[in-house]
Amino acid sequence: MDSADGSKSAIDSFRKRVKSTREDESSSSFLKTLLTGLPSRKSKVFTLVTAGVNVLLALLTLDFLFRGMIFYPTSGLAFSRIGYVSPTTAKLLVREPDRAQLPLVVYFQEASKQPNESWTEEGIIYALDDTTDYTYTITLKNLKPSTQYRYSLSNNKTGSFITAPTPGSRAASRLSFLTSSCIKPNFPYNPFSHPLRIPGIEYVSETVAKLPSIFRPSFMMFLGDFIYIDVPMRFGSSQSHYRSEYRRVYSSPSWNVPEDNPAIDLPWLHTLDDHEISNDWSKGNTTPPYPAAADPYAHYHVSANPPIPPSPFASPENTTYFSFIQGPASFFMLDTRTYRSEPAQPNSTILGSAQLQSLLAYLARPEPADVKWKIVASSVPFTKNWHVGTTDTWGGFLNERRIVFEAMWRAERELGIRIVLLSGDRHEFGATRFPDPALDLKPDDLLPDTAGDGLHEFSVGPLSMFYLPIRTYYQTDDEDVTVKYAPDGNSKFGLIDIDIYDEDNPNLDDPTNAPVPSSVLTYSLYVDGEVVWKYRLAVPLHPPGYAPLKLPPGRVLLDNTVSSGWGLQEAIGQFEENLGWLRDNIREKWWTFLEKERKAERVD
Ligand SMILES: *[C@@H]1O[C@H](CO)[C@@H](O)[C@H](O)[C@H]1NC(C)=O
Ligand SMILES: *[C@@H]1O[C@H](CO)[C@@H](O)[C@H](O)[C@H]1NC(C)=O
Ligand SMILES: *[C@@H]1O[C@H](CO)[C@@H](O)[C@H](O)[C@H]1NC(C)=O
Ligand SMILES: *[C@@H]1O[C@H](CO)[C@@H](O)[C@H](O)[C@H]1NC(C)=O
Repeated sequence: MDSADGSKSAIDSFRKRVKSTREDESSSSFLKTLLTGLPSRKSKVFTLVTAGVNVLLALLTLDFLFRGMIFYPTSGLAFSRIGYVSPTTAKLLVREPDRAQLPLVVYFQEASKQPNESWTEEGIIYALDDTTDYTYTITLKNLKPSTQYRYSLSNNKTGSFITAPTPGSRAASRLSFLTSSCIKPNFPYNPFSHPLRIPGIEYVSETVAKLPSIFRPSFMMFLGDFIYIDVPMRFGSSQSHYRSEYRRVYSSPSWNVPEDNPAIDLPWLHTLDDHEISNDWSKGNTTPPYPAAADPYAHYHVSANPPIPPSPFASPENTTYFSFIQGPASFFMLDTRTYRSEPAQPNSTILGSAQLQSLLAYLARPEPADVKWKIVASSVPFTKNWHVGTTDTWGGFLNERRIVFEAMWRAERELGIRIVLLSGDRHEFGATRFPDPALDLKPDDLLPDTAGDGLHEFSVGPLSMFYLPIRTYYQTDDEDVTVKYAPDGNSKFGLIDIDIYDEDNPNLDDPTNAPVPSSVLTYSLYVDGEVVWKYRLAVPLHPPGYAPLKLPPGRVLLDNTVSSGWGLQEAIGQFEENLGWLRDNIREKWWTFLEKERKAERVD
């Protein structure tokens, strides 16, 4: 359904409800008193109830804002997590502030062995101190490819991970991973839940547990806004405040459920976005608060991330873009915040010159024969189809976008690979394609809401946060073609699976139209834990020496999305499900508050 229709019908239904409420004056008086908080002339009871509700709301707001901060300062947090895993190594991040636990010994063993059998000692951490917020990243080495391991620390922290397959092996023809962005603990707010609970992380674990083991994701590619330093408001800009926000997210009980396969065992790879620094950040990497923000990002995320590209065009120290190959895909994870200049100037740069050169070198580089995909991850969307805050995305850097797209189209024409763009940031899902002008497509091939040819971008979020009722994504030209727009849902993520299948290929000049073996990428969109949309892209596996062919168009495999307005109907549904009018009123007040905040500081 067209999004304009969606909001129109929502407005209509709202009007109808307003009208029917007006027709029933006596109930309206109570509702009015309740919703506006104004004293009622008719009834003292209404006024008292309303006053009570407002006091309660104020307390709940204070609870939302401060319970996590005051009761969970988390300076004592001890935890460990797995970061980037290659065929023979695994990065392990450890935090242990308790001196009594030092020195900390790190052991690992193959998961197929009994825990009482021999463990390999990887190393001993003798000192941890405030310079790294008591964190240290150790690399486990000399591991066997495609093997499950468990690790154990002398402070009793344990976990497990699976190494990547050997490049070129049969196992390396497939890969599955997750992607999303944006986390805020305890959102949607529930006064009865742990203040650091993150429902989106629990959806991830539940989904992974239900997948057949062959689809088990190798990692989560998380595209920024891991902390929301300025939502609902900024309480500090010091290094110690930024550090505490990371610790609060890592203190969430949601990481450790379910016990047999907790989310913390999934390797998470990270990019940076504005809410790790400050809303819509574009002031470089020396202006405060960037240095304070970069400190915990380096200790908690960069340290356990994949390696930097082989040609970084900058001093490797402090380089915050990453590149690696896993199975059939090669990855480039951009930093679109640290090096950007003011947007919307003819010479605006979102990557900075070193990173741009590094990306162009990566795009032009032929990959090993079994690598069929180049996946470029950006915290902000490439598409300019989002019409609010466009200049904070690649929409504010269109000249640079053109340079990057030209290089991507050329790579698809010449290298026998396909490029896929991943992004986050918008708290909505949008799939967009950018057809190569050399394809010379007809207007019918460029209509909104169509599958087809082009570079594809999948932008998804939030993993655990709000979405907005206002629809801001739509196609305005034939450069950015809408494939799918799915804004609703407080928890969204994408599952990407790549494997070899026989695909029909109507574009091949083959009169028999026989299925061709292809590397096939399937994108599955999950909303609130359920798969609602699936899309498929393919790269035919040509025999060597075969002339490059036009890539086949993308196809929709499943569409169970329901386009609903964000109207009273939904609110009434929740009325019955949850805490009724009290909760709705909290939400109203919260939205009003957020909208005010949004005016001062945009939040996506
Ligand atoms: C380890 O434990 C298993 C049973 O849990 C036992 O059969 C085995 O002998 C033990 N191995 C060693 C080396 O103690
Ligand atoms: C680790 O576990 C062992 C056995 O359960 C226990 O004796 C020891 O006190 C624990 N150590 C810490 C640091 O919790
Ligand atoms: C890297 O960052 C650190 C901390 O911000 C700074 O002291 C150092 O000079 C930087 N190094 C380079 C090569 O820019
Ligand atoms: C863009 O051009 C302006 C005016 O010449 C210059 O001041 C600015 O530094 C340039 N910005 C970048 C990122 O090169």
